[in-house]
Amino acid sequence: MDWKDSYDIGVEKIDCQHRQLLVKLNDFFEACTNQQGKDKIEETLKFLKDYTVEHFGSEEQLMKDIDFPELTEHQKTHAEFVQTVLDLEESIKTKGVSVLSTIKLNRTLTDWLINHIHKCDKLIGDCIAAKGNKAV
Ligand SMILES: [Fe+2]
Repeated sequence: MDWKDSYDIGVEKIDCQHRQLLVKLNDFFEACTNQQGKDKIEETLKFLKDYTVEHFGSEEQLMKDIDFPELTEHQKTHAEFVQTVLDLEESIKTKGVSVLSTIKLNRTLTDWLINHIHKCDKLIGDCIAAKGNKAV
């Protein structure tokens, strides 16, 4: 998947973090296409654990700064994503890497791109624009 300018929310720090995530996800998707998802899953989960702390922290701070009306719901979605990553990590620790865990991560990440970054995160940009870019 390529990044499109229309995915930008208009805040450089957040857009950079999103682009950085897409690079990693594409690595994983490519590995899955080549039947090498099992080799990449642990590295991807490790990346996601660090990335989500930093990125969700930045995004949630931004939402607070602009009095984003759907902050609580958005935070809940972030927490669910973190939980999915932790659950997958736990499952790999106890049961080892499986094709099923690879498929689960692939689906979670695809859904995250399409439904979260391209839709929910865009609402943050819309909110900033509605405030006349004064909040940031
Ligand atoms: Fe978000």
